[in-house]
Amino acid sequence: MLRIKVNGIGHEFSGDPDMPLLWYLRDVLQLPGTKFGCGVGLCGACTVHVEGAAMRSCATPMKGVNDKEVTTIEGLSARGDHAVQIAWKENNVPQCGYCQAGQIMQAVALLKQRPNPTDHDIDEFMQGNICRCGTYQRIRKAIKQAAGVKA
Ligand code: FES
Ligand code: FES
Repeated sequence: MLRIKVNGIGHEFSGDPDMPLLWYLRDVLQLPGTKFGCGVGLCGACTVHVEGAAMRSCATPMKGVNDKEVTTIEGLSARGDHAVQIAWKENNVPQCGYCQAGQIMQAVALLKQRPNPTDHDIDEFMQGNICRCGTYQRIRKAIKQAAGVKA
C-alpha cells in the first residue's frame, strides 16, 4: 500500500506501483489540469511538484511518490491567484493552452530556486517545457513580472 498526498489531501494506493503518477492524477483523482503530451518525459506538459520540485508525472511511477506530497495546477492556489498565474493572465501567455499548466508549474519551481531569474536562468530552467504555439517570449515576460511581484 502506497501513501500519497495530493494538493493537501492524503490518499492510499494499492494498484500497480509502476503506474505513472500522471494516470493516477487524471484518471483516478479526476484532476485533468495536468496534461498528457509525449508520455516519455520530453515535453513538460505533465509537470507537477513533488515535495516542491518540478517533476514529469508521466515519467514518475507511483512507487516514486510514496509518502510524498504532490501539488498539481489545481492545488497551486485556491482561486488561481498565485503570482505566476496572475502574471500569466496579465500577459495573455496561453495560446491553445495545452502546455500551460506544465509551464506554470515549472515557472513556480524556478522562482522558488531563483527569486530573481536572469534570461539565462529562465531559458535554462524552462527549456524542457515545449510550447508548440511558441509562447516563449510571453512566458519569459510573465516570469519576470511574477518575480517582481514576489520580490
Ligand atoms: S507528457 Fe510528460 S513530459 Fe511530455
Ligand atoms: S500554448 Fe499551445 S502548446 Fe503552448
